[in-house]
Amino acid sequence: MSVLMGENMMRKDGEAHQTERRAAFPAFSPRTVRDVWAARFREATVKVLDDLAPKGACDLVAEFAMPVSAHALRNITGLLNMSWREMDRVSQGMIDGISNYLGDPEVEARCHDCTASIDAHVTERMAELASAPDTSLLSVQMQAGLPEASVRANVKLAISGGQNEPRDVIAGAAWALLSHPGQLAHVHEGRATWQQAFEEYARWISPIGMLPRRVARAAEVCGVRFESEERVFLMIGSANRDETIFENADSYDVTRDTGAAIPFGAGPHFCAGAAASRTLVAEVALPMLFERLPGLRLAGEAPFEGWAFRGPRAVPVAWDA
Ligand code: HEM
Repeated sequence: MSVLMGENMMRKDGEAHQTERRAAFPAFSPRTVRDVWAARFREATVKVLDDLAPKGACDLVAEFAMPVSAHALRNITGLLNMSWREMDRVSQGMIDGISNYLGDPEVEARCHDCTASIDAHVTERMAELASAPDTSLLSVQMQAGLPEASVRANVKLAISGGQNEPRDVIAGAAWALLSHPGQLAHVHEGRATWQQAFEEYARWISPIGMLPRRVARAAEVCGVRFESEERVFLMIGSANRDETIFENADSYDVTRDTGAAIPFGAGPHFCAGAAASRTLVAEVALPMLFERLPGLRLAGEAPFEGWAFRGPRAVPVAWDA
């Protein structure tokens, strides 16, 4: 990640991490999400649904969740000069690049092409934002005076982590509700909120199922000994279905208390985009989707894939157009 995308805040610890996290905070804060991003998310989602509504059928992943997620990310990062399709392409290109364990030169070349595209868009927007600052990630880091290499690396981090997860959660939660009509009825009849439907989906499926870590110092956790420099996987997907914490952990139950679940991680690196994602998915994408497309129903299988990153490959649906 550091070689291909630059050294970002996720790869730092202690004060070095906190400095960058604080600089980025104004772009991610619950207040900015409420006062600035929520309206932009709605505006973009209305347009996506306006185009979709007359069609009567679509793949929710490619035609709804993907553009909705990418438009949100264009706003949060400040890269309004990038199309939503390019946002999706560069995000995927970087994800493929950093998980290119076989060292395929084509994958690496594509990743370089994607980071070059981001850099070109960043350069153009930096010139504009210098005289007209705003609350975007690019602008707030510039205002805080972070070194340009860090500014660029953190924009790339947000793009690599901020596109596929909301996309997978929007399409996946819609699928979960459509395939569990009793749960959807809880929401429609006011016994549960869209927020609960979203949080329970994120617990049940864990869009990020695993976090890699290097052990910094020897320690014993729950009777297991860890030595310094060992590599470990934190299995979020397992924690979120811990049968000693969650009753019937394998079932999707929108009325359950999900307070102990950790789909956004925990500790200093807790997802910076959590507030934005909650608003995007639970206040905008899900309620607007079900309101705007009457009689929304599944129209085929939704194949899920991945475990480190998990989501549906496609969610075919139809509605009464
Ligand atoms: C439902 C959607 C999302 C999920 C499930 C999710 C999940 C996570 C998780 C588990 C981590 C912790 C990584 C670790 O500790 O190694 C993380 C970190 C992060 N996420 Fe998200 N994320 C989501 C959406 C977003 C969005 C939309 C953005 C940006 C616009 C974003 C930006 C970040 C950043 C910058 C970090 C690193 C924070 C740090 O190192 O201090 N995420 N995310």
